[in-house]
Amino acid sequence: MGTPDAEIAAQTNYDEAAVRPYTLPDPLRTAEGRSVTSPDLWAKARRPELLKLFESQVYGKTPTPSQPIPISHEVVSEEPEALGGKAIRREVTIKFGEGADAPRMELLIFLPKQPTGGRPVPAFLGLNFEGNHAVTNDPGVRISTAWMRPGQEKGVVDNRATEAGRGRVADRWCAERVVERGYALATAYYGDIDPDFDDGFQNGVHPLFYRPGQTKPDPDQWGSIGAWAWGLSRALDYLATVPEVDAAKVAVLGHSRLGKTALWAGAHDPRFALVISNNSGEGGASLARRNFGETTANLNKSFPHWFCGNFKQYSGHEDKLPVDQHELIALIAPRPVLISSAEDDTWADPRGEFLAAQAADPVYRLLGTDGFQLAEWPAPAEDSLSKGTIAYRYRPGKHDVLPSDWEAFLKFADEHLKK
Ligand code: GCU
Repeated sequence: MGTPDAEIAAQTNYDEAAVRPYTLPDPLRTAEGRSVTSPDLWAKARRPELLKLFESQVYGKTPTPSQPIPISHEVVSEEPEALGGKAIRREVTIKFGEGADAPRMELLIFLPKQPTGGRPVPAFLGLNFEGNHAVTNDPGVRISTAWMRPGQEKGVVDNRATEAGRGRVADRWCAERVVERGYALATAYYGDIDPDFDDGFQNGVHPLFYRPGQTKPDPDQWGSIGAWAWGLSRALDYLATVPEVDAAKVAVLGHSRLGKTALWAGAHDPRFALVISNNSGEGGASLARRNFGETTANLNKSFPHWFCGNFKQYSGHEDKLPVDQHELIALIAPRPVLISSAEDDTWADPRGEFLAAQAADPVYRLLGTDGFQLAEWPAPAEDSLSKGTIAYRYRPGKHDVLPSDWEAFLKFADEHLKK
C-alpha cells in the first residue's frame, strides 16, 4: 500500500519545477458558462451538475434497480463491558439481498459508556482494510471470514484472516481514545462490500444491481469505490436506528483508497455531517491536473476496478476531465471537511491535496461558511490542523493513520459536531 511498482515509480514526477501549468475548472461556473452567484443557484443548478459529472465520469452512478434491494440487520454480539469497561461493543450483520450467498457487511460499533446525560452521541464511521478484529485488541470481536487482500504482513493465511491479525492496526483506530472523548466508533471491512480485486464485478454487491442479462456495470456505473461508499451509507442507515447514536452527527472518514471512498460517500450522501480524508491522494483529495506523484493513468492501470469505465479515457488526458478534485470537496459544502496529508506521502501529492482544499473555498464562502483559512502550504507539524470549515493537516511521517492524526480528527469533530 502506498508504494507504486518500480516501472511506474521510475516515471513518476516528484519535482515541483516539472509540474506543468494547468487551469482548474471553476466550481462556480456552470457548464453553460453561467456564473453561480447565490447559494440557491449552487444548490439547484451547479451542485447537481457537478454530482452528475462525478457520477458519470469518475466514480460511476449507483444503479437504481426497479425493485429495492432487500437489506436486513441482525445484532450478532453485544458486550456491555468492552474496552476496559469504557464501551458497549455491538456487532451487527447487515445482509444485502436474500439467500445464503448474499453479501454481508459486519458492522462493529463501540458506544461510549461514560455519562452522556442520556443524549445520543456523535460517531465516527469508516471502512477498514483488514477486518474488524484487526482494529482493536478486544478479544471478543469476531475474526473476519471474508477474502483478504494478499500482501498483509501477518495475520492472513491463504487470503483468510487469523487470530494473529487481532489488534494489528489498533493504533490506526484508537478506539479507547475515541470513546473516552464521547464518540461512538463504527467500522466495517471494505471487502465485505466488494473484495478489492478486479474480477469483472462478479462478486460483492454489484451483481445485486444488474438488470436481467447485465453482467458488468455500464461505463457510467459504479466501480468499487462507488460500492464501498454505498456500503458506508448503508452503515449510516443502520446507525440511524441506534438510539445511543446521533445520526445527524456522523463523521465519515477513511485512509488512502478508503479516504477517496470517504470523500465520495460524503459528497454523495448529504446525511454525513463531516468528512475526513486521510492521505487519499489521486482520485481523492489531490488535484488530477497536477502531474505530481500518482496520475490518473496509474490509477486506471493498477486499479481498473476502482473507478467507472468512463474514467479510463482520462489517462494522460486529465485536462479533458470536466471536473477536478477540488469540486469533489466542494460537493461536501457547507459541511466541515478535513484533508489530512503526510510529508513522506509524496505519491499522494500532499501539496495537490492542499491546493484542492484551497480551490474549494469559494463554494464554502458562497454557502456562508468561513471556508479555507490558509494562504500558503504550511510546514509539516505533528499537531498541524488549520482553522475553518475546510481544514487542512500536514504532518511529518509516512502514509498511515497515526494516533496524532486521531487527535486532530477529534479536535476538528469537537469543534464542528459538539459546539
Ligand atoms: C496505492 C494507490 C493509491 C491508494 C493506495 C492505498 O498506493 O496507488 O491511490 O490511495 O494504494 O489505498 O493504499
